[in-house]
Amino acid sequence: MPNDTAKLNIKNIAKDAEFAVLQGTQGPDVIDVTNLYKDTGVFTYDPGFMSTASCESKITYIDGEKGILRYRGYDIEELAQKSSFLEVSYLLLYGDLPNAKKYKEFSRKITEHTMVHEQLQFLYRGYPRQAHPMAIMSGAFSSMSAFYHDSIDIDDADQRELAAHRMIAKVPTLAAMAYKYAIGHPFVYPNNKLGFSENFLHMMFSVPAEEYKVSPVLAKAMDLIFLLHADHEQNASTSTVRLAGSSGANPFACISAGIASLWGPAHGGANEAVIDMLEEIGDVKNIPTFIEKAKSKKDPFRLMGFGHRVYKNYDPRAAVLRKAAHDVLKELGQENNPLLKIAVKLEEIALTDEYFVARKLYPNVDFYSGIIYKAMGIPSSLYTVLFAIARTAGWVAQWKEMMEDPSQKIGRPRQLYTGAKKRKYVAIKKRK
Ligand code: SDX
Repeated sequence: MPNDTAKLNIKNIAKDAEFAVLQGTQGPDVIDVTNLYKDTGVFTYDPGFMSTASCESKITYIDGEKGILRYRGYDIEELAQKSSFLEVSYLLLYGDLPNAKKYKEFSRKITEHTMVHEQLQFLYRGYPRQAHPMAIMSGAFSSMSAFYHDSIDIDDADQRELAAHRMIAKVPTLAAMAYKYAIGHPFVYPNNKLGFSENFLHMMFSVPAEEYKVSPVLAKAMDLIFLLHADHEQNASTSTVRLAGSSGANPFACISAGIASLWGPAHGGANEAVIDMLEEIGDVKNIPTFIEKAKSKKDPFRLMGFGHRVYKNYDPRAAVLRKAAHDVLKELGQENNPLLKIAVKLEEIALTDEYFVARKLYPNVDFYSGIIYKAMGIPSSLYTVLFAIARTAGWVAQWKEMMEDPSQKIGRPRQLYTGAKKRKYVAIKKRK
């Protein structure tokens, strides 16, 4: 809704350009610069999108200063206490919490899609056993478009819905298969009597040779972690999914692009990097050395799991995970886990050190998740895959929202060109 106007006065533009200032239900107003180039011949310039709203969305709201995260208006802390990953997936997709009947129907639909096409296993067998699971995930996820031709027509709402259910349902199966393949175990089929997160742990840790009972505490912790990671506004991987989707690419290819973007250590790859960093620190007495490395402009080292583009306060997800880490380690009899000790001490020091305080660098969602995963016996190479399982719900919801927007068009940013001006081609024998 236009709430005000913004005037732009540039010396070589004849008349002042005027733009509508739009107001959302919460958060900063935006200056609608859609016609800026048409009206003035200039672009905006915002590498890294520090001040750019790329779209309108009703899904997730973040207030970085206050450390607020809400999915469709519900505080993450309340959802973490009272909801489940599958219920939150419904909420993200459809906008409201489901009643009992709708939730039962949604759970049934997701459950009936947990298996993947039997041929997909042969894609896995083409990878070296030591391949990084994220390399397999981005390939396997995109390959699903070769198998599910009845859910790739993006102009058909029923096919979009079927694709959405398939992607949320199958990503844990693909992930568990990547783990089993890496350790040389046989793939384990989903057991549809189990809940979403319980089924994932069943596919990860059970073997055909013996009975396996998923620990309810670990299943609950896994479900909480998935819930906390489900969506996060227009982060790098979600923006990647939207940009891929804007070209009309099929849904499996769009989410696969999101998986690739999430892999980076500055984004979803940070949880794996946090554990590598804690293991490298090795002992509480070495923390000051690493704090100094993180501050040095000459050293590319950063304190993994700290800082955030939006949160300039404690990441509300990290606060929930901090408590979950203590609960899980207690359940597993690992209260004296050395990595947790280093993490708690590192957090204590960083939260009082001027460098981190001045830059508002707080622990983020990735700081504690890796400690829980490690305690659960999950290898660090799989941590970002777990992030991808959860974020598939958010990516799919954001993709769905964009595809249902009649005004959406292909995303095509411009640039500030600083390269060579026109010059003539010189034959190689005449070049110096
Ligand atoms: C996720 O966007 C999302 O929402 C992402 C996410 C989601 O749910 O989708 O929340 C998930 O990706 C969480 C972030 C995980 N990444 C890490 O933990 C990696 C370590 N963090 C940094 O790489 C960094 O903090 C970023 C990438 C997260 C944010 O970087 P910004 O916003 O671009 O900030 P910046 O690089 O401009 O840093 C500002 C200052 C710089 O110092 P000065 O130049 O001002 O002197 O802070 C410093 C940086 O050097 N800084 C750090 C630091 N993070 C920033 N210094 C040491 N250690 C760090 N971790």
